[in-house]
Amino acid sequence: MKNLRGLLLAFLILSFGISDFPQAQDQQGFISLDCGLQANESPYTEPMTKLTFRSDADFIKSGKSGKIQNVPGMEYIKPYTVLRYFPDGVRNCYTLSVVQDTNYLIVAMFNYGNYDNLNRHPKFDLYLGPNIWTTVDLQRHVNGTRAEIIHVPRSTSLQICLVKTGTTTPLISALELRPLRNGTYIPQSGSLKKLFRVYLTDSKDIVRYPEDVHDRLWSPFFMPEWKLLRTSLTVNTSDDNGYDIPEDVVVTAATPANVSSPLTISWNLETPDDLVYAYLHTAEIQSLRDNDTREFNISAGHDVNYGPVSPDEFLVGTLYNTSPVKCEGVTCHLQLIRTLKSTLPPLLNAIEAFITLEFPQSETNANEVIAIKSIEKSYQLSRISWQGDPCVPQQFLWDGLTCEYTNMSTPPRIHSLDLSSSELTGIIVPEIQNLTELQKLDLSNNNLTGAVPEFLAKMKSLLVINLSKNNLSGSVPQALLDKVKNGLKLK
Ligand SMILES: *[C@@H]1O[C@H](CO)[C@@H](O)[C@H](O)[C@H]1NC(C)=O
Ligand SMILES: *[C@@H]1O[C@H](CO)[C@@H](O)[C@H](O)[C@H]1NC(C)=O
Ligand SMILES: *[C@@H]1O[C@H](CO)[C@@H](O)[C@H](O)[C@H]1NC(C)=O
Ligand SMILES: *[C@@H]1O[C@H](CO)[C@@H](O)[C@H](O)[C@H]1NC(C)=O
Ligand SMILES: *[C@@H]1O[C@H](CO)[C@@H](O)[C@H](O)[C@H]1NC(C)=O
Ligand SMILES: *[C@@H]1O[C@H](CO)[C@@H](O)[C@H](O)[C@H]1NC(C)=O
Ligand SMILES: *[C@@H]1O[C@H](CO)[C@@H](O)[C@H](O)[C@H]1NC(C)=O
Ligand SMILES: *[C@@H]1O[C@H](CO)[C@@H](O)[C@H](O)[C@H]1NC(C)=O
Ligand SMILES: *[C@@H]1O[C@H](CO)[C@@H](O)[C@H](O)[C@H]1NC(C)=O
Ligand SMILES: *[C@@H]1O[C@H](CO)[C@@H](O)[C@H](O)[C@H]1NC(C)=O
Ligand SMILES: *[C@@H]1O[C@H](CO)[C@@H](O)[C@H](O)[C@H]1NC(C)=O
Repeated sequence: MKNLRGLLLAFLILSFGISDFPQAQDQQGFISLDCGLQANESPYTEPMTKLTFRSDADFIKSGKSGKIQNVPGMEYIKPYTVLRYFPDGVRNCYTLSVVQDTNYLIVAMFNYGNYDNLNRHPKFDLYLGPNIWTTVDLQRHVNGTRAEIIHVPRSTSLQICLVKTGTTTPLISALELRPLRNGTYIPQSGSLKKLFRVYLTDSKDIVRYPEDVHDRLWSPFFMPEWKLLRTSLTVNTSDDNGYDIPEDVVVTAATPANVSSPLTISWNLETPDDLVYAYLHTAEIQSLRDNDTREFNISAGHDVNYGPVSPDEFLVGTLYNTSPVKCEGVTCHLQLIRTLKSTLPPLLNAIEAFITLEFPQSETNANEVIAIKSIEKSYQLSRISWQGDPCVPQQFLWDGLTCEYTNMSTPPRIHSLDLSSSELTGIIVPEIQNLTELQKLDLSNNNLTGAVPEFLAKMKSLLVINLSKNNLSGSVPQALLDKVKNGLKLK
């Protein structure tokens, strides 16, 4: 019996014209934050990568700066030597401005380096908006770790939150956002969490920006049963599929040393339910003779067989599955199998693999988020819990709010706002009326001045208003008194 997943799967070379798309040169659209960097040292250009890093201070309101200790034998570029740690609050969030509906490579870098001299490696959770992204475990990754995802933000603001889950203190070293070309790395559903990105070489060098215009980080990888191919000729990387593969990662390739064996790459997943996407970057880098053919099939388990493929000579192509693939259990075996007519063994230059991650929880209604942030600003509130999404996840609901939750796919709405005894001064601000589903408003025991505004009478959902113990002047508007007759509770 044929499996549906297998039938749906198709590896293909994508080729649609996006040549009019601006080249992502010169760090255009990059966000490079050196977390914990002092404002007076910002910005600076990191000499190895030529990346311009700036302080994260404008993007988060909590946390403190730390600096890692020197570890003999370990060298980190400067942005990964300072960090921001979060001794206060359970959830601490960055708010970044992004271009809506653009595909971003989002990288968060974590390096403990015994900055606090306590030798207590932290473990905590990382969230993207209201949804969990990953667990950061620096007890397992003592030399630092990277979290990486390809994600399309559906609004102009992106929140990245560190959530304390145990007794250790969350920290972050750097945040790096890189726009990718539209139409590349798009799964059928969800976002792509990186498993690995390697180029097949005997070199020790990691390739990233500026060689890679999107600052993807390519690690070297090679297996003893492979034979290395290398070319000194130019490989054309300006293919029209938009993946912008750096030439440095395709001038080498691996073929099986035993020319009749397949080329096999295996890896493990965390759960057997993980859905995998793989991107294979290939270019023929041998000058083929007339009687040479290199042709192979790509197989992954029982269900997936695609081919035959023949890499273009000195031109990069990208092959990937357009439908998600499940591996057998927790182990994935990708094989490149020589076809009968091929005179040469299969070849592979570079490969990336991802699993999909779903972000099912909707963010709070966007207009209400704007309104509540504007209220926060007007009254200069600084509450540690007022970070990240106001309503979700529910365990991190902002102090003084209650929300209505219909289901995960419906944006939550703010139902009550309690700012009593919050040392508020000034007038009752008009942004309150943008919380259109507000049922209960408590502004009692503050120093508010000015008139009781007319707009309160127009807020259809309001059932309870408490304005007692303030310095408000004038009389209560007639419209509001009329509503009291109809059941509104007003103090
Ligand atoms: C990317 O492409 C999609 C579909 O073609 C389109 O809806 C979207 O607006 C594009 N985004 C950008 C930033 O160009
Ligand atoms: C961390 O780095 C040290 C020094 O290079 C090395 O000995 C150790 O194996 C590394 N640990 C891990 C988990 O990578
Ligand atoms: C590289 O390949 C593209 C797409 O096939 C082609 O349009 C372009 O002319 C090639 N460039 C060179 C220098 O051969
Ligand atoms: C090469 O691979 C083939 C098929 O996998 C196998 O039969 C043969 O013994 C291998 N040759 C060597 C020298 O390992
Ligand atoms: C291909 O042609 C070359 C000479 O052009 C010859 O040396 C070689 O043996 C041929 N290979 C095959 C598999 O026929
Ligand atoms: C390669 O795939 C084709 C179908 O696409 C199939 O007919 C052929 O038998 C396969 N060859 C090998 C060696 O797997
Ligand atoms: C409140 O809503 C109005 C009308 O939708 C809008 O013009 C205004 O910018 C909003 N203000 C805030 C602070 O959200
Ligand atoms: C969520 O609630 C909305 C509004 O009531 C409804 O239209 C939608 O079908 C619900 N979705 C799910 C997945 O239950
Ligand atoms: C009002 O302001 C005065 C003077 O600043 C202060 O002493 C008092 O505590 C405030 N009252 C409230 C309820 O915040
Ligand atoms: C304000 O009045 C409402 C309605 O009477 C009441 O529920 C609420 O507890 C009061 N707030 C405070 C801080 O006493
Ligand atoms: C509040 O009003 C009282 C009486 O009108 C006045 O004495 C006091 O100074 C006012 N407090 C503030 C903080 O405006």
